[in-house]
Amino acid sequence: MDRIVITGGAPLNGTIPIYGAKNSALKLQAAALLSAEPLMLENMPDLADTRFMAQLLESLGVEITWIKETRTIRMHAGDVTSTIAPYDQVRKMRASFNVLGPLLARVGHATVSLPGGCAIGARPVDLHLKAFEAMGADIVIEQGYVKAAALRGLKGAAIEFPFVSVGATEHAMLAAVLAKGETVLKNAAREPEIADLADCLNAMGAKVEGAGTSEIHIDGAASLKGATHKVVADRIEAGTFACAVAATGGNVLLAGARFEHLGALIKFLRDMGVSVEAEGRGLRIVRKRNGRMKAADIDTAPFPGFPTDLQAQAMALLCTAEGVSHIRETIFENRFMHAPELSRLGAQISVQGNEAVVTGVPKLFGAPVMATDLRASVSLVVAGLAAEGETTVNRVYHLDRGFERLEAKLAACGAQIKRVREEEYA
Ligand code: EPZ
Repeated sequence: MDRIVITGGAPLNGTIPIYGAKNSALKLQAAALLSAEPLMLENMPDLADTRFMAQLLESLGVEITWIKETRTIRMHAGDVTSTIAPYDQVRKMRASFNVLGPLLARVGHATVSLPGGCAIGARPVDLHLKAFEAMGADIVIEQGYVKAAALRGLKGAAIEFPFVSVGATEHAMLAAVLAKGETVLKNAAREPEIADLADCLNAMGAKVEGAGTSEIHIDGAASLKGATHKVVADRIEAGTFACAVAATGGNVLLAGARFEHLGALIKFLRDMGVSVEAEGRGLRIVRKRNGRMKAADIDTAPFPGFPTDLQAQAMALLCTAEGVSHIRETIFENRFMHAPELSRLGAQISVQGNEAVVTGVPKLFGAPVMATDLRASVSLVVAGLAAEGETTVNRVYHLDRGFERLEAKLAACGAQIKRVREEEYA
């Protein structure tokens, strides 16, 4: 397994391009199953997860072509040759579960492994399944697999989610576009990735209205056509680099980052004393290296609240802020696994249940650390960039799931960061 080795202390200056959002791309890839014509996704992030999703689609009969030069993927589901997503595939990447809805809607049946829990929490899929049942699907769970059937097609339904779920909202949309009649989703998630999915589905001929609000109306179509869609910029990648610049000091333009998708993080950074301004088609982050940032509190929440996917990176930043910060994680029950690793760098963090209290220290010091999930690993990179001395981040495969060219983008702005391949240290 590769490692990332960082010598901390260098400021970041320059421009970082922000790529397409992983969490949007994965659902857009699943949408390719809905049409017999090709779906082209531009601004496609080339990540372990999106490659993995492409392989799963291939196993279902989708022809895949990556066009590297233009960061585009072409997916053509002319014939769906399999409707089974096995345990090994869904266990490795939960987003694989998202093929269930499109298969059910297009072919009338699917057998997809239940994803199970993961490092950040139990993460059930009950809301997804209830939505499909409301649309008339018969669902049985046998030997760890969801067997779903709607042999005479799905029917539009009124679905009110008991709480906000990004995945259930997207998955219901992915099925409802081919259901007969109207589907209304109430208490829907409002994340930018939902609006992105709706834009893509509409380009394919679907009729989705209200995405980005908590009530989405979908008028089902008999079939969908091919389309070309540009994946929305990754707000979590952008937010991560913003935290990195805040941690090290410097002046960086995040090219392609969307101000309106990062409101809660921008307020948080400004409260800490970091300058964030929209500039052209991007965001400029500036922090002068003249003293410490101020402590700030965070409650994670569904969009437009503070994203849980930026909580770990924000915690890394708060470790050296002046004062005491409180973080409340309200989305996932086990998302503080980075806290003990940050403590290895000298941070003072105490965790009780879903609350963490961070008492800022003047400095962090480099150390070997290990990550448990994607966002936790990148928080260790953020901390390592600011720490004095050398930090080695182990288990880099977590990072590769969601950040493309992370070390190259940071190094281009002056960070002393390199990847050490397994064969070089083994
Ligand atoms: C998506 O997960 C993202 N993943 C997550 O990013 C992100 O943290 C999360 O949304 C919240 O923004 C992808 O898009 C691939 P939810 P998702 O359904 O859809 C509970 C990353 O690092 N719940 O909004 O799975 C659930 O357990 C990942 O990139 C049910 O109880 O999140 C959680 O507590 C991590 N039953 C809460 O709802 C259900 O049927 C919100 O989860 C569905 C969800």
